[in-house]
Amino acid sequence: MKIVVGSDHGGFDLKEDLKAFLTELGHEVEDYGVYDAQSSDYPDVAFRVAEDVAKAPEKKGILICGTGIGMSIAANKVKGVRASLCHDTFSARCAREDNDANILTLGGRVLGKGLAREIARIWLEASFTGGRHARRLGKIEKYENSKR
Ligand code: RB5
Repeated sequence: MKIVVGSDHGGFDLKEDLKAFLTELGHEVEDYGVYDAQSSDYPDVAFRVAEDVAKAPEKKGILICGTGIGMSIAANKVKGVRASLCHDTFSARCAREDNDANILTLGGRVLGKGLAREIARIWLEASFTGGRHARRLGKIEKYENSKR
């Protein structure tokens, strides 16, 4: 799978670890920064990754800041993005199966690397189940299209 990753300084270490893990799993990983742990603003990277994922349905995104919250708020401003902040494996599976999330956000200061790897693996392996969930997402899409 093509995966676009990005972080601010609070997520930099975890992004580097996940990049290595995802590459080992055979994914094609593109890194949109940041490239060091110097202080940076999470919206800059969130919008770059989110715009790319919104334009390319075959891609998934992973965004990491200190808590995952800022990245989630920013990414969800981009039309067509369904960013999911997941800090447990149950939510990670549901985010894909029920919400068809196209971006995973994580907190680099919240999660250990082992759990973050497991969350990312489960999120990437799960698939949208459609049905009643598609109806609900359709309502969100209709609202989004009526506002912008
Ligand atoms: C940066 O200090 C921190 O606010 C950021 O990484 C993130 O947690 C914001 O939601």
